[in-house]
Amino acid sequence: MSTQYDNIGANYENFKFQATLPIVEKFNFFKVLGNIQGEEILDLACGSGFYSRLLKEEGAKKVIGIDISEEMVNVARSEENNNPLGNEYQVFDVVKMPHIGNFNLATAVYLLNYAQNKQTLTQMLTNIRLNLADKGRFITVTTNPNFSIKKSDCSKYGFQVFKQEVLSEGYYCEAEFLTDSPFKIDYFQLHQSIYESAAEAAGFKNVSWHDMEVPPQVIKEYGEDFWQDFLENPLIIVLSCSN
Ligand SMILES: C[S@@+](CC[C@H](N)C(=O)[O-])C[C@H]1O[C@@H](n2cnc3c(N)ncnc32)[C@H](O)[C@@H]1O
Repeated sequence: MSTQYDNIGANYENFKFQATLPIVEKFNFFKVLGNIQGEEILDLACGSGFYSRLLKEEGAKKVIGIDISEEMVNVARSEENNNPLGNEYQVFDVVKMPHIGNFNLATAVYLLNYAQNKQTLTQMLTNIRLNLADKGRFITVTTNPNFSIKKSDCSKYGFQVFKQEVLSEGYYCEAEFLTDSPFKIDYFQLHQSIYESAAEAAGFKNVSWHDMEVPPQVIKEYGEDFWQDFLENPLIIVLSCSN
């Protein structure tokens, strides 16, 4: 399996430490997660394991990270070898992912934005639900269906969207991570109704969108003006699905 992230590998983590977008991404993701003490978590699109490690450090019992990119999984495994936390990493395309276990919690920070249409999104969500226990939750960070490239420039947050092409179920987007060694990616921003109907088709009964917040200490550090564009036109959003 080869993906656009096979050429990015370890460089992706620079973005997490150099840009400001990950500050609000992390805050909002953990706010929706709530208490994860003792949880066994399936972390999808784990990439180099940034969140898999954080989830473990924040109290999860064990995290199994899944990613389509061999190179990203190799980075995650080598970090696990260097600093063992007890996490495990496997290479799978979530679109074809089998049953791995019955988890109370599955997470995915930037997975659903790689589904190009409702059919693929439904397949991903069906496979995720297959891996959840009856009362399991799926919490994900994805592209905000309402983000508009015309409303603001998000380059100050370390991520520049330079193309948003209209499709029947959303947009095809091209963007660049603005780190010391910038790199480009493409992804999809599907409509809210497509997400909701795909989640329903996958069997989820409850679907909630969580508005983004900027924590007071971060507003204080960067100033209110800095975050205004983000709050008026958030690039990302947290979505939770449960049975
Ligand atoms: C932006 S990175 C996010 C990595 C990690 N969640 C984080 O926030 O640090 C997106 C990841 O999604 C993975 N990915 C894309 N499509 C996937 C799929 N169909 N199944 C599994 N992983 C996928 C990519 O290989 C990449 O590692």
